[in-house]
Amino acid sequence: MSKNRSQLKVIVLGDSGVGKTCLLNRFVRCEFSQNYRATIGADFLSKEVILNSKHISLQLWDTAGQERFQSLGASFYRGADVCILVYDITCQKSFESIISWKQEFISQCGPSNPENFPFMVIGNKCDLDNQRAVNQAKSYQWAKELNLPLIEASAKDDIRIQEAFLEASKLALERE
Ligand code: GTP
Ligand code: MG
Repeated sequence: MSKNRSQLKVIVLGDSGVGKTCLLNRFVRCEFSQNYRATIGADFLSKEVILNSKHISLQLWDTAGQERFQSLGASFYRGADVCILVYDITCQKSFESIISWKQEFISQCGPSNPENFPFMVIGNKCDLDNQRAVNQAKSYQWAKELNLPLIEASAKDDIRIQEAFLEASKLALERE
């Protein structure tokens, strides 16, 4: 069944420095900065998109990857329609954290049907292929086995950013 919704709540999670804020700034504002400024707590952005010829307002929640800023609590996650999990293709540890971020989301958000809740994985910084630490074929295989859609993207070079966020929004609309 598909949702008849005009607003979608999107939560973006992942280790510090993977590029969550940059992905959102690229998608929403068409901007990119090399300077790193850690997100504290959470930030909110919104963007209108057209999906299935309908106007949808995406409510995008950027979170802090740094542990000392993590105290968002369950009320923050409540009502989420989709969760985007981000890693950095040059950082193996950030890839290995994806599963714990997914668990964190499920335990905090408490979706009624966790098996069916839509997640999307973004492997960011694909412009840095020469510094790649996460094997591409292996990560796609891993994602396939877990039934997680995975897209490698680059906030810096604007590679597959629209595609990734639109795919996540579609998943949110499709699943109850
Ligand atoms: P926290 O807020 O601490 O959780 O980090 P974050 O995940 O929001 O990371 P942020 O977006 O601030 O980016 C961290 C660093 O990575 C910055 O210096 C960015 O310029 C850089 N960065 C982000 N995206 C890309 C990308 O696609 N390619 C490259 N080369 N660098 C990127
Ligand atoms: Mg940030």
